[in-house]
Amino acid sequence: PPENPPGPLNDTSTKLVNDYAHPWRAPSPNDMRGPCPGLNTLASHGYLPRNGIATPAQIINAAMEGFNMENGIARFVTYAAFLVDGNPVTNLMSIGGKSSGTGQDPPQPAIVGGLDTHAVFEGDSSMTRADAFFGDNHSFNQTLWDEFVALSNEFGGGKYNLTVAAELRIRRIQDSIATNPTFSFVAPRFFTAYAESVFPINFFIDGRQKGGQLDLDDAISFFRDMRFPDGFFRASKPSGAENLDVVAAAHPIPPGANNGTVNSYTPDPTSADFNNFCLLYVNFVNQTIRSLYPNPTGVLRDALNRNLGFLYDFIDTPLCPQLFPYGQ
Ligand code: HEM
Ligand code: MG
Repeated sequence: PPENPPGPLNDTSTKLVNDYAHPWRAPSPNDMRGPCPGLNTLASHGYLPRNGIATPAQIINAAMEGFNMENGIARFVTYAAFLVDGNPVTNLMSIGGKSSGTGQDPPQPAIVGGLDTHAVFEGDSSMTRADAFFGDNHSFNQTLWDEFVALSNEFGGGKYNLTVAAELRIRRIQDSIATNPTFSFVAPRFFTAYAESVFPINFFIDGRQKGGQLDLDDAISFFRDMRFPDGFFRASKPSGAENLDVVAAAHPIPPGANNGTVNSYTPDPTSADFNNFCLLYVNFVNQTIRSLYPNPTGVLRDALNRNLGFLYDFIDTPLCPQLFPYGQ
């Protein structure tokens, strides 16, 4: 059964996280790794179970402890991902592909496919992972990394910073519009893409360093090797998607999708955007979650209800009332 979400850290100062108690080890062949360089790194250092199968509470605790991720955003992204990619009954999720390690599946159309599952949370125009249309949406992609380096050289003097983040974000979107007939950039991907563009600045820079310039040797250590740089200190304060707005404002584009052919990007007014955060929650619950779980019963229904409540904790405002798709 779901445990309660962990609260904030007591000590939120920066500290050595690549420490003696958390040695890097290469993943074994059966260990799950996936599209998130942050969680991959936490698993390879033992902040998460090294097999890549974890509970929501383990993921929230590891993101706070290892990267100083702020408690509220850690809970929100974890329960969002868990509701669509995890097993609500066993309370386990794979940070990579589908795994028998998450236990017996609930009835279809539930997927329980882990974070690799396309279009429920993972989405297109990632920085270092290809679009699912091209066959592999989760492995480090050298060609995309070369583009990351090229833009860091062109716009950041050889570092990844906020200027580079903005240029790379729109470049990846334009690449997908021009090459992926199935390209989709609606919520939740519309939000996560911009958040993930600033995560390298907010989390992959040593907490003792100021100025927001990510060294590319450190960047590839996370993105490819799933490894903290030697002597790495976590962020100096609880952090999340700070400066997401700067990246989004640099090259605004509405949520939308290609319509089955390349270069056919069409805005989708039914998607949430930055002016309507509540709609992100409403569509996620009423469309995404309900399509996976149309009619849950028993312990499955109870577990979904508890996790839906944990997801709503982050929203909690009279302007965006809680939804109860499976009763109260
Ligand atoms: C990407 C999940 C925390 C950094 C992703 C993706 C997923 C995910 C599913 C793939 C999205 C896509 O690119 O299509 C999660 C969950 C977290 C979490 C459930 C729970 C707390 C973190 C943390 C960091 C991080 C703490 C940084 C330390 C990133 C980055 C990407 C990403 C940089 C983009 C990768 C790319 O575009 O190449 N995450 N993540 N994440 N995540 Fe996480
Ligand atoms: Mg992706």
